[in-house]
Amino acid sequence: MHDMSADIERVLLSERELKDICSALAGRITKTYADTGRELVFVSVLKGSVVFTADLLRRVPLPCALEFMKVSSYGAAAHSSGFIQVHLDLKRSVEGADVVILEDIVDSGRTLQKLSGLLAGRGAHSVRCCTLLDKPTCRQVDFRADFVGRCIPDVFVVGYGLDYGERYRNLPYIGVLRSAVYTRA
Ligand code: XMP
Ligand code: MG
Repeated sequence: MHDMSADIERVLLSERELKDICSALAGRITKTYADTGRELVFVSVLKGSVVFTADLLRRVPLPCALEFMKVSSYGAAAHSSGFIQVHLDLKRSVEGADVVILEDIVDSGRTLQKLSGLLAGRGAHSVRCCTLLDKPTCRQVDFRADFVGRCIPDVFVVGYGLDYGERYRNLPYIGVLRSAVYTRA
């Protein structure tokens, strides 16, 4: 049996740290949306955000809906415009709702910039972005998430929902992948 942990150079965020990050984010979100009188809709971005979404939402004691989208963004570094391809869309309207997009990691910023624009254009009352991880040094467009779990350096991470070639999502922690893993592919 292949030992996944052998492919991990170092643990960046332990299970304990991830729990604490989720609790802190949930507290901020709960404060922001308590007593708005509006519908609160979480839009979780598949697939990487699934584990984060499950842990975060169980700590938000507010009435809310959970929806999923699957998107990918394209655009060369030189083109800040880029575009977004929607592979799985919402089956409902978000008109008048407070929307919180849940993402695993922000890198260039393209995905969330485009997705938040798309949902705002559908008449949401507000659209905010919550990301577990942020790589601020990788930004290619002017984008800032509203709720950030942890800023990390420009390293490739896996685990806790994040994958490399669809593997490692089930690691309970976030780890830096050994470069030998992607150079041997
Ligand atoms: P943007 O549009 O901000 O896209 O460039 C963020 C998306 O890039 C992927 N990504 C990663 N996935 N480990 C991963 O498993 C990483 O270190 C990493 N950095 C970026 C991810 O799909 C995210 O949604
Ligand atoms: Mg992703």
